[in-house]
This record gives sequence, structure tokens and C-alpha cells, in this order.
Amino acid sequence: MRFSPGPVLGIETSCDDTAAAVVRDGRVLAGVVAGQEEHLPYEGVVPELASRAHARLLAPVVRKALADAGCSWGDLDGVAATHAPGLIGSLLVGLSFAKGAAAARGLPFVGINHLEAHLVSVLLSDPGVEPPLVALLASGGHTELVGAKRWHDYTILGSTRDDAAGEAFDKVSVLLGLGYPGGPHIQRIAEGANPEAVAFPRARLEPESLDFSFSGLKTAVRNEVARRGGNGALTPGDRADLAASFQEAAVDVLVEKTLRAAAGFGAATVVLAGGVAANASLRRRLEAGSRDRGFRFAVPELRFCGDNGAMVALAGSMRLARGETSSFTLPAVPTLLATSFGR
Ligand code: KG4
Ligand code: ZN
Repeated sequence: MRFSPGPVLGIETSCDDTAAAVVRDGRVLAGVVAGQEEHLPYEGVVPELASRAHARLLAPVVRKALADAGCSWGDLDGVAATHAPGLIGSLLVGLSFAKGAAAARGLPFVGINHLEAHLVSVLLSDPGVEPPLVALLASGGHTELVGAKRWHDYTILGSTRDDAAGEAFDKVSVLLGLGYPGGPHIQRIAEGANPEAVAFPRARLEPESLDFSFSGLKTAVRNEVARRGGNGALTPGDRADLAASFQEAAVDVLVEKTLRAAAGFGAATVVLAGGVAANASLRRRLEAGSRDRGFRFAVPELRFCGDNGAMVALAGSMRLARGETSSFTLPAVPTLLATSFGR
């Protein structure tokens, strides 16, 4: 894997984290992530609040990342920013900032697909990862199985047909009165509880399908909570068992389909990345399943699972090393399929 030799600044603003980092030769020199507390009362991300917060936070976040890295603008090989997919207003803040900074300083600019950034984030923790690989990219907005015969040559093998995996964790967490974002809450209370307390449905879809569906699982949890008299009637033990049973059902399907995709694609390596890759049960079970079937398993360390600037800087560094830059007319695109994942 080749990286641009000099430092690259990466900017990530696709959802509700304002993040910037500087990466040089595959290593992180500095990274800053500012979360946005204004969404907490709403138990979900409010797009307009997110873009306003990015506009307020981004300049100081970038300044701190450069200062921590000991870099000035003139030291950089280029500026990378997420241009898709994500919330349109949020994307526009980071993308416009990156274009403006690159234009003003005469630096190369490269737009990055957020899913590619999550995929290559594994190299920050495990630089030896090589294709052929299959990656499960699971976050609050996406659940994709991606095959790569080579870096930058990506095929989407399966996607969610409704809720993303992280979205299911978030919604179930709200149903159980645990708050947002839900993944860490569910994981915490599920620890030590009974994952077989309730046999929630596993949506396998058609026999060969590598797609996912999590909306039925979420509804099943809602129905079970209602059957027991609502969240207020649950004991802490009930709530923990429901969380553990939900997590088990979600992880079962994620692991099973990822391993089937890896076998069918002829992958040597299984990669797990994205915010949901922070889930301890998913990490443990996908690692064990990969080992049993002879795949190498790779997952980013926890600080690179959620949205961060380092993964964008690294993806930018890889694109720049191939001589790729983007036009200043590159648009922000909210959807996945209309974008340049794999170009
Ligand atoms: O990648 P990310 O930071 O942002 C998006 O691109 O969406 O992912 C955020 C998602 C949220 O849905 C959050 O609940 C989930 O990742 N998440 C987890 C865990 N930590 C974060 N899901 C399950 N278990 C976790 N430990
Ligand atoms: Zn993400």
C-alpha cells in the first residue's frame, strides 16, 4: 500500500461529528473529534443543528489538528474531505471548507467517500491488511458488505434494505429508555445478561441474499416491550435481557452474512469497520468465525471505529499517492449509490 509521502489533512463532517486529522505515511500525527451535544434532547441527529454546529466547530478543530501535528498549511501534501454519503448540509460545510483551504493555499484537494474512509481505517491499526478482502461496514447510516480484489476496486455485495445496523441499536436503545447513541448503552447493559431470553427474529431474506433488514427486529423489540406493559414496567434485569437478546439477533445475522460473503468472494481477509465495529460482541464473534474458516480478521482500534478525520486523511493519502485529485466542482452527495465509492 502506498501513501502520499507528506502529511495530509482529512476533514470529516458527514453526520454529527466535526473531525479533522493529519496523517503522514499511514500514521496519525494528530486527530481531533468534536461531538455535538445539541442533539441529545432529540434522541437522534437533527440535520439543521448538525450543519450549524459544524460551521461553528470546524475551523477551531482543523486549527488544533494542525497545531497538534506540528504542521503548517505549507507542509501539507493535500487536503481530503468527505463528500458523500451523509447529511447534505453537514457534508457541504466540510467539503466547502476543504476546497476553500486547498484553493487558498494552492494545495491538491481530494474528495473521499465516507464508506471508503471507514474501510481503509483498518490500515491505521493493522497496516498489513491486503485484498482480496470482504468488509462489513456498519454504522448509524449504512450497513454494507463490500468486496475488494484490489484497493480502490470495490464491489457492493450486500446492503441494508431498511434500517442500518447502528440505527437499529439507536432505536432499540430509545425504546428501552437508554438514550442516544444507542450502541454503547445496549452493549453496556447487555453485558452479563441472557442473550437467549427472547428469540427475536433473524431476517435472512432470500437464501442467497447478502442484504440485511433490521426494521423487523426493531419492531419485534417494540412489540415485546409493549407486551410487558411498556418500558416503565420493565425491571433492570428485563431490560438487560431484552438488550442482550436484541444484540445477539443483530450480531448473528451480521456475522453469518459477512462470512458467507467472504467465502463467495474468495476473500483472504475479513474486515470489520464503522461505528458498530466498536461492539465487543460483534468483534469477538466475527473474529472467532473468521479464524474458524481460515480468514485473517482485521478491525480498527476503538478510536478509529466511529467517525474521525484520520480515516479520511488516510483515504486521501492513498488517492493522492495514485496521482488522483478531485475537481473543485466535486459536489456533496447524500446517497451512496450516486457517488464515487470505487470510482
Ligand atoms: O460510523 P459512525 O460513528 O457514524 C455514522 O457514519 O453513522 O457510527 C455511529 C453508529 C451509531 O448508530 C452508534 O449507536 C453505533 O455506531 N455504535 C455502536 C457501538 N458504538 C457505536 N453500535 C453497537 N455497539 C457499540 N458499542
Ligand atoms: Zn461513519
